[in-house]
Amino acid sequence: MCGIVGYVGQRSCTDVLMDGLSRLEYRGYDSAGIAVFENGIIKVAKSKGRLKDLADKMDREGRLEGHAGIGHTRWATHGEPSDRNSHPHGGGSVTIVHNGIIENYKRLKDFLLSKGRTFESDTDTEVVAQLLDYYYQATPGDPVKAIIKTMKELEGSYALGVVFADFPDTVFALRKESPLIVGLGEGESFIASDVTAILQYTRDYYLLEPNEIAVLSKDGAKVYDLHYQEIKKERKTADWDVSAAEKGGYPHFMIKEIHEQPVAVKTTIAPRITDGMPDLSECGITPERLREFHAINVVACGTAMHAGMVGKYVIEKLAKVPVNVDIASEFRYREPLVGEGDLVIIISQSGETADSLAAMRLAKELGAKTLAIVNAKGSSIAREADMLIYTHAGPEIAVASTKAYMVQIAVMYLFAFELALAKGVIDEAECRRLTALLQETPAQIEQVLADKELTQKIAAELITADSLLYIGRGLDYALSMEGSLKLKEISYIHSESYAAGELKHGTISLITENMPVIAVATQKRLYEKTISNVKEVKARGAKVVLICREGCCPDQDVADHVFQIPNFDDLLMPMIAVVPLQLIAYYTAVLKGTDVDKPRNLAKSVTVE
Ligand code: F6R
Repeated sequence: MCGIVGYVGQRSCTDVLMDGLSRLEYRGYDSAGIAVFENGIIKVAKSKGRLKDLADKMDREGRLEGHAGIGHTRWATHGEPSDRNSHPHGGGSVTIVHNGIIENYKRLKDFLLSKGRTFESDTDTEVVAQLLDYYYQATPGDPVKAIIKTMKELEGSYALGVVFADFPDTVFALRKESPLIVGLGEGESFIASDVTAILQYTRDYYLLEPNEIAVLSKDGAKVYDLHYQEIKKERKTADWDVSAAEKGGYPHFMIKEIHEQPVAVKTTIAPRITDGMPDLSECGITPERLREFHAINVVACGTAMHAGMVGKYVIEKLAKVPVNVDIASEFRYREPLVGEGDLVIIISQSGETADSLAAMRLAKELGAKTLAIVNAKGSSIAREADMLIYTHAGPEIAVASTKAYMVQIAVMYLFAFELALAKGVIDEAECRRLTALLQETPAQIEQVLADKELTQKIAAELITADSLLYIGRGLDYALSMEGSLKLKEISYIHSESYAAGELKHGTISLITENMPVIAVATQKRLYEKTISNVKEVKARGAKVVLICREGCCPDQDVADHVFQIPNFDDLLMPMIAVVPLQLIAYYTAVLKGTDVDKPRNLAKSVTVE
């Protein structure tokens, strides 16, 4: 996720861009840049790091002065955070800023290389800039025509701000999937990734729809479709305050981030799939290397450790390689038996968790190879690992992790598929089938997100509970751990997760009518077994919420609420079934009136032991 701003009018463009970007920094903050028409010529200033680093650079090297331009704050996807990879990117007469991901950029880059074009960065964005210029050179004088031709070639999700050297008083914008609005002021026009960036100048805007192109001048904005037909847009007026706008209209970052999960999954997996097969070669992971490993340890904390639990089930089932999952603070002090020939996977959203970092350093000392699965670009764990897979969830602001967990497990699946293929346990056809299923999960997640009524109703009944139990078997048990943590950390209701088959060995004595039980039963093979455990708790008075697949017909009196999720492949069920668990936790916390995004005593990044 990145932030885009654009301006054309009478004000100082640099002021407007820098101010807008500061309000979009929550969307990404590993580098920033602006392009401004200075006396009719495009000038660029960009820098790795926060917006402040860009401001300091301009203080040192000179501020750009002009009245039209574009700006960007970045959360790296292609290419490490660096000055070179920062936006804006240029291609001949075109300069652009980009939010999103171009899935077919490799093919387009090869095409442009064959036409003699050269590239300065590792980004997919520069490929778009070059392609725009390529088409513009074919129809000079008509940027919209070049934009339309380019859009027809691009696959993926994107929003772009564009300036053409030949049109110094004009800013162009286009989008597909990634958000973009066009702000309409008196004698000035704006573009922005969200309305927050421009609220202090105007509240009037157009919402740009997918496949629309906007042409902005100080006198207003025209919007075209892909047939070059002008579209009459409905003018909207923002009535949000600034903080609501940053949350895209959602009341909390957590629910916004829950909704961002389908896009986060697409953005994370798309660059790692080539011709329908997992391809982690860019992350330093090759079949030859994978064949070297005899055992795997996954080391992480909290939610990231729960993602590791899902990974354990999937890797062991598919690749037949033993996987041990450790809490990082335990691993680092228990003299773990890892060494040469072992792989240690460290999962971390922040990449700065002190215990996870220390565990990774220990694993390296012991001779194991380390693979980091990290969301925050350039973080310590990312820098020190032998191999690295970045998740592309974008910045996660809510303390309770949701979208980061989702992409962590998405990566665990891709890794398991590739490992199983490398080890010869599955053949290419099966690998292809599984990869295609993974690509379908965003649509399944959308489906669960479409109706929240039942999760709200369940939450309303949970708020009076003092304690809850989450139960499941196999992958459902791994998922119950995450459901339970989510609920307790934000609603402050005590909860435990238990392997359903283990209840009878002690914990069932806690069951009364005051102890609600959330049972996860999505695995076909284990369904009847879990239902027997559900009947046991129900017989002892517990209120039961059952999460199962569509088509399962439990007896009417088995559960008080049955939440049915789309019927999908057993192995990939966690990616779908976690959504109702997140929603139940969220709505319970909202109804209890807790500080959902910043729960008490918790910090987003735990950089101390
Ligand atoms: C819970 C949560 C934490 C983190 C844990 C590890 O919602 O967010 O349990 O998962 O503190 O943090 P990272 O992933 O940054 O290493």
